[in-house]
Amino acid sequence: MERKWWHKKVAYQIYPKSFCDSNGDGIGDLRGIISKLDYLKELGVDIIWLSPIYCSPLADQGYDISDYYNIDPRFGTMEDMEELLAEAKKRDMHILMDLVVNHCSDEHEWFKKACEDPDGKYGKYFYIKDYKDGKLPCNWRSYFGGPVWEPLPGHPDKCYLHVFHKKQPDLNWENPELREEIYTMINWWLDKGLAGFRIDAIINIKKALPFKDYPADRDDGLAPIQLMLKEATGVGEFLGEMRDRTFAKYDAFTAGEVFDEKPGDLPLFIGDGGYFSTMFDFNETTFGKSDLGWYAATRITPDDYRNRCFESQRKIGDIGFLSNIIENHDEPRGVSFYIPDGEVTPTSKKLLATMNVMLRGLPFIYQGQEIGMENMEFTSIDQIDDIATLDEYEVSIKAGLTPEEAMKVASLHSRDNARTPFQWNDKAHAGFTTGTPWLTENPNYTRINLESQRNDPDSVYQYYRKLTALRKNPEYAETVVYGECIPAWEDRHNLMAYYRKSSEKTLLVIGNYQTEPQTVTIPQELKKVVLNNLPTLVRDGKTLTLAGYQAVVLEV
Ligand code: NOJ
Repeated sequence: MERKWWHKKVAYQIYPKSFCDSNGDGIGDLRGIISKLDYLKELGVDIIWLSPIYCSPLADQGYDISDYYNIDPRFGTMEDMEELLAEAKKRDMHILMDLVVNHCSDEHEWFKKACEDPDGKYGKYFYIKDYKDGKLPCNWRSYFGGPVWEPLPGHPDKCYLHVFHKKQPDLNWENPELREEIYTMINWWLDKGLAGFRIDAIINIKKALPFKDYPADRDDGLAPIQLMLKEATGVGEFLGEMRDRTFAKYDAFTAGEVFDEKPGDLPLFIGDGGYFSTMFDFNETTFGKSDLGWYAATRITPDDYRNRCFESQRKIGDIGFLSNIIENHDEPRGVSFYIPDGEVTPTSKKLLATMNVMLRGLPFIYQGQEIGMENMEFTSIDQIDDIATLDEYEVSIKAGLTPEEAMKVASLHSRDNARTPFQWNDKAHAGFTTGTPWLTENPNYTRINLESQRNDPDSVYQYYRKLTALRKNPEYAETVVYGECIPAWEDRHNLMAYYRKSSEKTLLVIGNYQTEPQTVTIPQELKKVVLNNLPTLVRDGKTLTLAGYQAVVLEV
């Protein structure tokens, strides 16, 4: 595997709307981000992915872009963005933007022009079809519920395709003119000094055409879009072209949001010379999900979590680098999801951090993860902003759940869990804003906040700093970054353990993923306890007794 400048780094995702509000309007902004760069440096972050800050009606919180060349005034100005790039550079940090090009906003001028003249140039930027005898062109269900077809404004006989929300019309990648527009835009941003992009929902750019129906899975007569994606071939031609025309020329870093890739695609996607630098490992986040909806999902157990991590590690081997996440803006808080209810403590949070950050691959920390932010307890659907949660609540009700049951499901899975404001301190609104936050802060901010953790050497935050420092420690970096990942004791219940092995050193990462103590006998001599989430380690020769949720990194 070819070595790259970004392999040794630590990446961090900012959800700008909820990170830091500098002007009291209740919405986080670029100046807020600039003011926190030193903090991120202190945490050990090198690469920062900003969720979308382009002009947008925010129907899907910025993943519906109405102008790719401008910053939404709610987030700041282009001068602020340029300042952020310059300030990041001074600190040897790299900024990524979110590249959302499967779709734009229905308020983008391309779509407005397409509505004015569906047969003209811009009509061909989208998928616009006639209703045939009043029937939709096909029965795919959009990711946010309902059919993927919506009447084209001003043309009752026509409809347009949107695999996400109706305010997110899909761009027609089959049209070379559209692709040119996109490449020009990408290069324009890279010329400004961006390090690269996180690439949104990219597998969807290739549709299986011509449009046709798939077997319906509910009484709405619609079929999950994954059935279409399974049949779609040729996405690689678009992705390879995009790489060659844009990223490759700048040695840009790209992290693909790729679901539903085909078996054997990994080398093409993220092997040497692949379409992207890396892609996220969603093997844990997707565990137990059902096409039927959140209400039908199975809860992940510690053993499942371990098995899914190892499955990905085996799949990637030495092909390339996956990006490892515990959570992102589309997921509930990882500590509330991967740690059994009632067992979420600073110690178990540190265990989860150790297990994830020590895996082979690039760690991506999501804002607030480093202080152990938890799920919010949403009790009423009126507290929810997220369109996916609103849809899933209806899906649960239609499936026969009571409103209370449906609310429980929504609360556990809601994307809004990750979108509550960052908890900076125990002052009003967690120090996020002097105004009224766009989404209410989690009331636990008085207990969980950065300020108190910064002053506490045993905090989750200080532990994350130790993990990022270990990745950069010259003594261990080669092993932590490039060492092979070899699972150990896979048949042990509630134990997650793996070696990281390079020609120089062997590290053994062990986590006791339960409240009861657990004993393991290690085959090698223990040379050094490199990291421990508790003050002591009970040891009798090679036999270690790990306390509940104890996690250690050992040099053996
Ligand atoms: C994935 C993004 O992460 C998510 O937030 C968004 O809703 C969809 N793609 C559509 O852009």
